[in-house]
Amino acid sequence: MSSFVTHLECANCGGRFAAEQVQNVCTACQRPLWVKYDLRAVKSHFPREALADRPPTLWRYRELLPMRDDAAIVTLGETMTPILETPRLAAHFGVRHLAVKDESRLPTGSFKARGMALAISKAKEFGLQRVAVPTAGNAGGAMAAYAARAGMEAYVFMPDDTPSINRKECFLAGAKTFLVNGLITDCGRIVGEGRAKKGWFDLSTLKEPYRIEGKKTMGLELAEQLDWELPDVILYPTGGGTGLIGMWKAFAELEALGWLRSAKKPKMISCQSTGCAPIATAFERGERFATKFENAATIASGIRVPAAVGDFMILDAVRASGGVALATPEGDIPKWMQFATSREGISLCPETAVCLGALDVLLARGFIKPDERIVIFNTGAAQKYPEAVREDLPRIDITKPIDWDAI
Ligand SMILES: Cc1ncc(COP(=O)(O)O)c(C=O)c1O
Repeated sequence: MSSFVTHLECANCGGRFAAEQVQNVCTACQRPLWVKYDLRAVKSHFPREALADRPPTLWRYRELLPMRDDAAIVTLGETMTPILETPRLAAHFGVRHLAVKDESRLPTGSFKARGMALAISKAKEFGLQRVAVPTAGNAGGAMAAYAARAGMEAYVFMPDDTPSINRKECFLAGAKTFLVNGLITDCGRIVGEGRAKKGWFDLSTLKEPYRIEGKKTMGLELAEQLDWELPDVILYPTGGGTGLIGMWKAFAELEALGWLRSAKKPKMISCQSTGCAPIATAFERGERFATKFENAATIASGIRVPAAVGDFMILDAVRASGGVALATPEGDIPKWMQFATSREGISLCPETAVCLGALDVLLARGFIKPDERIVIFNTGAAQKYPEAVREDLPRIDITKPIDWDAI
């Protein structure tokens, strides 16, 4: 099958690049590249009804994805993730429609699988053999798994306090994994410097064009699952921002295809922690580019990104949608994780926990209305964060009589 990609386009200066060649960022201004499609041709070749007969994986949106050669697709079974109604949470918040799209079902337990499925598949299509990534945790785990699946050599650089499960999953998948006594931005510098020295392809967030295309499928899938009627509000935890940016791109493409029932788009709520809130801070200040957040510290490791390459893309999308960026108190994260998981059984990651804090605040401010349709993205599985959960369970000593009053 052929591709409908026309070219790559710089998100900042609009510079155009050929999609047939390996490309990281814009060579003129070093900013991220969008993948552009001939959406008119997609529209005439791909009626949305065609989806009915396709397998329930992200590859069902094949015409809106950048692959030229299907034989290069590297897959671990990127299933469609469920949208789960959450009536107990809705009752607590006093809202009518609250649902969680549970991305923890994806390979390696987070939405990062979507981006890496595309990035590694494109790397394979280009004949690349060695890839590297700086990571807050889940992206490294996903890249390691997809690189193993593709038979590629993988290098992962992560802060030395990255959750242990992420370290172990990279190790198990055979990636050359390094612990760095710094933040993801320091890891990013190492990957950048190693490009010339080690000859690897840099798969950092928004430093190659294809991870975002994978993340885009969250938006395509959401629209399809909701019968092409988007929700009023989306709450999304923001680190590097590709999830939010990718979804916003998906909505624009769906609109151009005429697949959406209404032109009204969701308010995009970019959720961060007070422990690392560069985007929320820039939003409040009315700035388009964010200042590096000093002394970033949060147990929601995936959103511990003090400086995001795509800051302006996140802020543009949030503002265009009529949404906001805001930070939840860091100390509230364990409370929201436990609160939501114990009420609905959905294993909520600490990153998504900040969305509940944001929802609480925005409802109190009247920014979100009780009858609006709200979707929160659970971007990963709580089980990947053993260090973030302090369970302090009581013990039973089987050498003594059981104290039933204590149970
Ligand atoms: C579980 C989880 N949620 C959210 C994020 C932030 O995603 P993005 O970089 O798309 O903003 C990450 C990134 O590592 C993550 O692992």
